[in-house]
Amino acid sequence: MAAESRESLRQLIRRKLGRSKFIVVSNREPYMHVFRDGRIDWIRPASGVTVALDPVMRASRGLWVAHGSGEADPKVTDPRGFVAVPPDRPSYRLKRVWLSRRQEENYYYGFANSALWPLCHVAYRRPVFREEHWDAYREVNQLFADRVAEEVGKERAFLFIQDYHFALLPRMLRKRCPQAIIAQFWHIPWPNPEVFRICPWRQEILDGMLGNDILGFHIRYHCENFIATVDRELEARPDRELTAVVFRGHMTKIRAFPISIDFEDISRRAGSPETKRLAASIRRKYRLPENCILGLGADRIDYTKGIPERLDAIALLLERYPQYRSRLVFFQAGVPSRTQIQEYCRLAEEVEERVRAINQKYGRGAWQPIVFAREHFDLPHLLALYRMARFALVSSLHDGMNLVAKEFVAAQSDGNGVLLLSQFTGASRELLDAIIINPYSPDEVAERIRDAIEMNPIEVRRRMGRLREQVREHNIYRWASSVIKKLTKFA
Ligand code: F6P
Repeated sequence: MAAESRESLRQLIRRKLGRSKFIVVSNREPYMHVFRDGRIDWIRPASGVTVALDPVMRASRGLWVAHGSGEADPKVTDPRGFVAVPPDRPSYRLKRVWLSRRQEENYYYGFANSALWPLCHVAYRRPVFREEHWDAYREVNQLFADRVAEEVGKERAFLFIQDYHFALLPRMLRKRCPQAIIAQFWHIPWPNPEVFRICPWRQEILDGMLGNDILGFHIRYHCENFIATVDRELEARPDRELTAVVFRGHMTKIRAFPISIDFEDISRRAGSPETKRLAASIRRKYRLPENCILGLGADRIDYTKGIPERLDAIALLLERYPQYRSRLVFFQAGVPSRTQIQEYCRLAEEVEERVRAINQKYGRGAWQPIVFAREHFDLPHLLALYRMARFALVSSLHDGMNLVAKEFVAAQSDGNGVLLLSQFTGASRELLDAIIINPYSPDEVAERIRDAIEMNPIEVRRRMGRLREQVREHNIYRWASSVIKKLTKFA
């Protein structure tokens, strides 16, 4: 079967969405304007959601509504909040919603990222439930409902809401725009009912989400958890046959849509001379020995990613197998994230400390076993790192999908590279030829890293070949097409 492409998606969108409006809503904007050296510049934030949806928006030429969080955003935005993006090749419109500092603190850093994020990831960080966070969350959801509704008016529209920042928005929009078809994609895991029941506002959250026509998760397991949670908490009628819930006379279909990446684009770019050039400059910058065995971790600095746990595994490997000392370098790219939350700052310090201790214990002269690069990496630099690495270690404690794993695979256009992947990522359900690991067990991870390093080159290529086939076929366009086909069934 031919893989879906940007062109086939564009045709599908034209055929299916016709003259209807197509509006995507997310907290994080796909392009952010910043000041750099006294000039206005733009960046693409490190977010799986925006990476996945940008190609869909380019194909659909729709409207994207998001929080304008870049310091220079207001400078390039018209009085109604619109700006054309991508800034270097405009093909769709972004409508920025402005939030006050208080709203951002309490809604984004507060309820979304200190309550819902730890609650849904179950990574053993206690969620923080505060009334003022919840109030701001409701207020910001309402603000977005107003901004979206004024774009929809009385027209036919497909509204596609992203993630846990907007659990209340579907219900609010259903009231304001009853003619619209509303779908939401929840990019993070959904926990079991026992975990979810500690949330003081659980019924309001579920009620909000059941305003959708379709509710998507990455994997079936999260769909089942959601239905079980509704069953426990609401007077609703779950239909396990149809994987749907009927509540207040309205049916919400719950479906798994495993998100992905633009395989062909990444594969092509990763093999380009530009990537080679960037790889050489990274080698120089971080003084990476030409002949070292390079392992890679690439994550936002987030406790769900299991960074300290993976460092423990590397330390154990060096302890047990001294032959890797002076040969192995583990490069951890750590993109700063949510730095206003104490838990995240503490984690960054903890990682720094671990790295220092390991380098002190196992370093030999100029050779340092761990390089921790705490900075923003754009896609071209990530691609260079993917190509340089002999293995990538994706050891999240819990992850809805994890697109780094898929990007790493797509970048190996020469067929090399070994992927070690946590069994608690959504991606592990699809990437069966990765070495699957339990990130909570340093002993197991250390042994599996050794397997990765020692793997016979024929086996490396055989596994990578199959992984590439999987991601090539199940690319972002296929994800978007299946969401759109499902959406338009309601029209
Ligand atoms: O779905 C989780 C997610 O929204 C991912 O898309 C992304 O990796 C991360 O969280 C981004 O976080 P933030 O937008 O808070 O920087």
